[in-house]
Amino acid sequence: MSLLARCPVLPVVVLDDPAQALPLGEALLAGGVDVVEITLRTAAGLAGIRALSALPELHVGAGSVVVPRHVDEVVAAGARFVVSPGLSVSVLDRAVELEVPALPGVSGASDLMVATERGLTEVKFFPANLLGGVAGIRALAAPFPGMTFLPSGGVKPENMADYLALPCVPAISGSWMVDPELLAAGRWDEVSARAADALRRARGAVPVG
Ligand code: 3PG
Repeated sequence: MSLLARCPVLPVVVLDDPAQALPLGEALLAGGVDVVEITLRTAAGLAGIRALSALPELHVGAGSVVVPRHVDEVVAAGARFVVSPGLSVSVLDRAVELEVPALPGVSGASDLMVATERGLTEVKFFPANLLGGVAGIRALAAPFPGMTFLPSGGVKPENMADYLALPCVPAISGSWMVDPELLAAGRWDEVSARAADALRRARGAVPVG
């Protein structure tokens, strides 16, 4: 199943403490978001993925997957998809071998040519705000009609609908819903509220041609 069609909002999480994982997962589900990317930026990431794999309704993925070994580690921990900030053919190869969907980051047409050659139809566009935002995606997408994009980096409640208005953008991702300060303070109601607000905004986005 298409990853980006599953939920229009993908929260990106930097966990400080694996104990935050389960209440975080429950808070996102309470807000209507059933997909999450736990990054490997912190040591707690892998244990957090393992903890969240206990929630069957939540589709947990791993982010910041930059070398093939990471794919092995996160799949063993229960990740159901892998996200990378850039495009690595060896990471993609390992993901194919382990039969886990991979979402590589692209930042230009050359990356998109490699992704197309590999038969991929879903990529992350990162860092979206520094790559021209909505106009950047529109320009890059033109020669790749089958490709769909997950913009990430600088996506916020105020600009997410602009991205989602593009037909080639089924979903966006960002960290504001799961701000590390909210996690550290255990403000799970606020996490749920931000997730629900993001979903509302995503569903209200008006497509443009
Ligand atoms: C990512 O890994 O996709 C980004 O770091 C998320 O970017 P943001 O923190 O600007 O939302």
